[in-house]
Amino acid sequence: MSAGALETRSVLLVIAGGIAAYKSLELIRRLKDRGARVRCVLTRAGAEFVTPLSVAALSGEKVHQELLSLTDESEMGHIRLARDCDLVVVAPATADLLARMAQGRADDLATAVLLATDKPILLAPAMNAQMWSHPATQRNVQTVTGDGAHLVGPAAGDLACGEVGVGRMAEPDEILARIETMLARPARLLEGKMALVTSGPTREAIDPVRYLGNFSSGKQGHAIAAALAERGARVVLVTGPTAEPDPAGVTVQRIETGQQMLDACRAALPVDIAVFAAAVADWRPVAPAAAKLKKDGQPSAIALAVTENPDILATLARPGTTRPQLVVGFAAETEADPARLIERARAKRASKNCDWVVANDVSPGTGVLGGRRNTVHVVTAGGAESWPTLDKNDVAARLADRIAAALQADGRAIA
Ligand code: CTP
Repeated sequence: MSAGALETRSVLLVIAGGIAAYKSLELIRRLKDRGARVRCVLTRAGAEFVTPLSVAALSGEKVHQELLSLTDESEMGHIRLARDCDLVVVAPATADLLARMAQGRADDLATAVLLATDKPILLAPAMNAQMWSHPATQRNVQTVTGDGAHLVGPAAGDLACGEVGVGRMAEPDEILARIETMLARPARLLEGKMALVTSGPTREAIDPVRYLGNFSSGKQGHAIAAALAERGARVVLVTGPTAEPDPAGVTVQRIETGQQMLDACRAALPVDIAVFAAAVADWRPVAPAAAKLKKDGQPSAIALAVTENPDILATLARPGTTRPQLVVGFAAETEADPARLIERARAKRASKNCDWVVANDVSPGTGVLGGRRNTVHVVTAGGAESWPTLDKNDVAARLADRIAAALQADGRAIA
């Protein structure tokens, strides 16, 4: 581990109430030595073990303790605190904190931050061995890891209570090593490559105040643009209206309609890689009304004349000089059976002439549309791979790694 390895990285450290909290002071020091910014949340119980003053002195930052502190809420609300970091670390993660996390509680600053963050979470549990092995704690650990949190430790050894067993918090060096792995920047294997990504929904005007649209949040497409940029690609992201922040280092083109998305994509060509993650409205009203449609005088049911939107993916994947070297489409289906989902993805791959299709079930029960997690199957000429349910950022990272590997393996043909 080198000094400065975590330069420009920011860690939010939650210190809960356990005797191991003293080791977190050492962790702060080592993170700072490596150049990381460390902000700390100290729970009420945590403050019984280490003082806010030591935490503030070591981190060089104000310590955050109260959920409803007037100054904090005006200067930096808990939502911003939860998101203005690259990683949230909980050390020590006590049995009580794990239980409250598993329930999705938000009744103090630590739990509210853990619920509000969109960043990865690393937990370093610390407790008595009996408490750790209790089925209730094990259930809670299953729940929080199932929700995406990562664990480091606990280790076996002498415990503060005088007993011996599993429950010791991982040592600061081990926690630091995990933090470095989690924050490691991927190799810039896409340096010199150009990429185009579409994301979000489109809106097709019915009249000046209404539109046809869909529930796409843009989370997956934006994450893919960010992951490609992180690997060194120059990325143009063409996006419909979303609440997602612009990914760092990406050129963002905002559009509203499918036709505008096609025009913006054409303007971004030529590119080496194109990923079409947008949920383009399949139809648009034939003739949007110039003035707001009024109910007066209309029958209670009206027919809306629609026409098909251009298929952006199929248009840009046609053989020709500007076809990107690697074209990746998505197949959003309401189909729970993986075999049938993959079958449809295969059909879309062929009909739209793309190299890969990322298929997902977007039925309302899956929580994929607008949610943070995604379960995808990647269909290529070589077959279909089913990935585990992952955070959308992890799906993006894995897809970007796969894209980089494919371009490296063969500059011409994509398997
Ligand atoms: N797509 C596109 N332009 C469109 C419609 C879809 O570029 N007008 C792209 C999507 O971005 C996605 C792929 O085509 O990569 C498949 O989109 P999907 O909504 O799953 O399928 P559709 O082609 O719209 O077909 P259907 O709605 O009948 O399933």
